[in-house]
Amino acid sequence: MKKMKITSGALLLSFLGLALSAAPVLAADRSGKEVVETVCLACHETGKDGAPKIGDQAAWAQRAAKGMDKLTQNAITGVKNMPAHGGQAALSDLEMTRAVGYMVSGGKAADAKKVYKAPNSRTGEQVVQARCQECHATGKEGAPKLGDMNDWKPRLQNGVAPLVKSAIGGHNGMPARGGLANLSDAEIKAAVEYMVSKTGASAASK
Ligand code: HEC
Ligand code: HEC
Repeated sequence: MKKMKITSGALLLSFLGLALSAAPVLAADRSGKEVVETVCLACHETGKDGAPKIGDQAAWAQRAAKGMDKLTQNAITGVKNMPAHGGQAALSDLEMTRAVGYMVSGGKAADAKKVYKAPNSRTGEQVVQARCQECHATGKEGAPKLGDMNDWKPRLQNGVAPLVKSAIGGHNGMPARGGLANLSDAEIKAAVEYMVSKTGASAASK
């Protein structure tokens, strides 16, 4: 009996190993502190280009007056000399939410578990037409072609959610957020769902 168990465990493990190596590696969401230290400090430590300095509570209080949602939205889409997603398109909206919380509170606020929901101002179709079709219409660099079920089917095995994540983070010839850093996670999701719907497959997913 014992031997049986070990064997099936080993089988399961090798199966999982296969499944994992076939899927793109998706980074876990980082803490606000980590994101700030690796990305945002570059400008917000010294106040480069007029960036509000971390620890300057007066400067942050003034900006926070418009509400944390608006502040986070501006950090995601960019505002004046503040680049969208701090210039790192692969940062998720949850990571941005946490980083903004960390900066505004001077490192005191706990990390948000819930992502700030940036408004979905562009529809999936608009995003695809404005950007994604540039590669996905023709299959440039191996991009899965719009409307081609054979290209999409193997990618859809685990549903739409992992595709949204990998479109945000980018991989191989697919740039993070399709190279358009000011797209929110919600807009990327809408775009991926639109692309999937063009194959005739159901994009219904949560
Ligand atoms: C290349 C420089 C640069 C980097 C990197 C950068 N910022 Fe900024 N940030 C700015 C500047 C400049 C402003 C001021 C923009 C303005 O004039 O309102 C700003 C403003 C902001 C604001 C205030 C927005 C508002 O509505 O008042 C937030 C929030 C913010 N940044 C968050 C971040 C986060 C989070 C990161 C890291 C993920 C980051 N920034 C990385 C330059 C930068
Ligand atoms: C510069 C060309 C380019 C642009 C622009 C582009 N893509 Fe891609 N995309 C690719 C390539 C190449 C792949 C295949 C990458 C791979 O799996 O090797 C891909 C793959 C994907 C996948 C499949 C991911 C997976 O894990 O299988 C999705 C979803 C996707 N892109 C969504 C988008 C969305 C949404 C946009 C627009 C916001 C976009 N792409 C814009 C080149 C592009």
